[in-house]
Amino acid sequence: MKGTILVVNGPNLNMLGVREVEKYGGKNLDAILAQLEEKAHGLDYKIKSFQSNSEGEMIDFIQLEGREAKGMLLNAGAYTHTSIAIRDAILSVKVPFVEIHLSNIFNREHFRSHSFLSDIALGIISGFGENSYYLGISALVDLIEKRS
Ligand code: DQA
Repeated sequence: MKGTILVVNGPNLNMLGVREVEKYGGKNLDAILAQLEEKAHGLDYKIKSFQSNSEGEMIDFIQLEGREAKGMLLNAGAYTHTSIAIRDAILSVKVPFVEIHLSNIFNREHFRSHSFLSDIALGIISGFGENSYYLGISALVDLIEKRS
């Protein structure tokens, strides 16, 4: 096993499969995480996943786990567009991460096209539904292995 990858999901992502299905798809978060876990095992990584509707809890998790982990997939939900505090937490532990969105944040309301995270991310995957997560893990592993 090559290490742990954090998968952090923010507010309302516990409602996947129920909320705005036309935008986010019909699959719930547990089903997506199960598939992601299989993919991670195939790449020889372990996943540690966390979801919270609370900004502070997300920050606590990133502070606690971010230093040991090899990398992180982060869908911060609406905090993407508001949270300098999550940005600062990531910078404080220096965990390399890929910013994930199910929807394409650039073809929706204007306020979604700004992210406080993108410029410190390795990259962004946005608009591919659940596949954003699966593409994200391959891209993340590829990059972290090239860097080490
Ligand atoms: C989202 C996009 C955000 O703008 C929104 O607030 C979400 C989900 C996505 O995965 O497409 O909660 O991060």
